[in-house]
Amino acid sequence: MSKSRDFLGPYRLARLIRGGSTAEVWEAIEENTQDRYALKVLRESKADKSETALLKHEYTVAKDLSSPRIIKVHEYREESGRPMLVMELFSELNMKQALRRGPESLAFMLDKIVEQAAEGLYYMHTKNWIHLDIKPDNFLVSRDGVVKLIDFTISQKKKTGLSKLFHSEKVARGTRSYMAPEQIRRKVCDERTDVYAFGCVLYELVTGKAPYTGDTPNDLLNKHLSASIPSPIVHNDNVTREFADLVKSMMAKKPENRPASMWEFLKVLRGIQIFNKRPRRPKISVFDNMPGIKGADDMLLKDRGLEGEDDDDQQATEGR
Ligand SMILES: Nc1ncnc2c1ncn2[C@@H]1O[C@H](COP(=O)(O)OP(=O)(O)OP(=O)(O)O)[C@@H](O)[C@H]1O
Ligand SMILES: [Mg+2]
Repeated sequence: MSKSRDFLGPYRLARLIRGGSTAEVWEAIEENTQDRYALKVLRESKADKSETALLKHEYTVAKDLSSPRIIKVHEYREESGRPMLVMELFSELNMKQALRRGPESLAFMLDKIVEQAAEGLYYMHTKNWIHLDIKPDNFLVSRDGVVKLIDFTISQKKKTGLSKLFHSEKVARGTRSYMAPEQIRRKVCDERTDVYAFGCVLYELVTGKAPYTGDTPNDLLNKHLSASIPSPIVHNDNVTREFADLVKSMMAKKPENRPASMWEFLKVLRGIQIFNKRPRRPKISVFDNMPGIKGADDMLLKDRGLEGEDDDDQQATEGR
């Protein structure tokens, strides 16, 4: 590889972490300091106005947020015509990858994981930002259960007072498996919209499955709107009644029937157990067998596979 292909400004691209459809995430080394960063770089073909605006927006959100539970985004910059974010590197799996071997992969340290994920989201809400794309792929998790929230592409400032009246969302944004009814209907969203999505994430963390599936994207969205709320105990009888009830309350169709905030959630969580019997650490850890860690090419192939696999669950951006 020539030097120019290997470098973006002062950053040497060391390893492709994830090759998505619009952006690539690279592990990179700053030449002068030798410090490591994660770069989220728009693909050359995608570096148009709207995608660039989304990346700038992500920086606007992230620069308000300073917490060990949230990935630090240092700056937005452009190098060789490629818009990018320079981020703290947290070279770990996202929760979706960690769950691919089944919920046992995380179950033995789930209390810590859930608490940290909830704290990150709660902190974001205290800064008046609503994430709006809460899903397992957007939490990074380390082998010892440290969690960091990422991906603020569609996050919005909480609407208050008069601004609620002037709310008009042209398109429904979010990821179908985790979208609250008000988000699907393009109504005003608030922290309880994230509480709903986080409830869906908790359901998946203990069962290995998203709460709803559908034959078509619309079928899936309709389940969020009107299907009865499933209990995680049906798929995992080691889940306590208290935790199952908490998760179900988060997935209430009407925001007013959910815990009012992530703080309310944390208060309840701290008084209950997730599992009846403490799950054992699996003999082979998913973190020891990280797919694709051997090389970027391997990662690219894996990710191409994933894109197909998750097709039904891509961000919904069409108006409904
Ligand atoms: N700071 C980071 N350190 C390590 N890995 C990261 C970091 N940021 C992102 N990643 C990895 O890259 C993936 C994609 O990042 P992100 O969610 O920000 O981009 P995206 O545009 O939403 O991509 P996708 O469409 O694939 O979700 C994450 O799920 C995670 O695996
Ligand atoms: Mg993402």
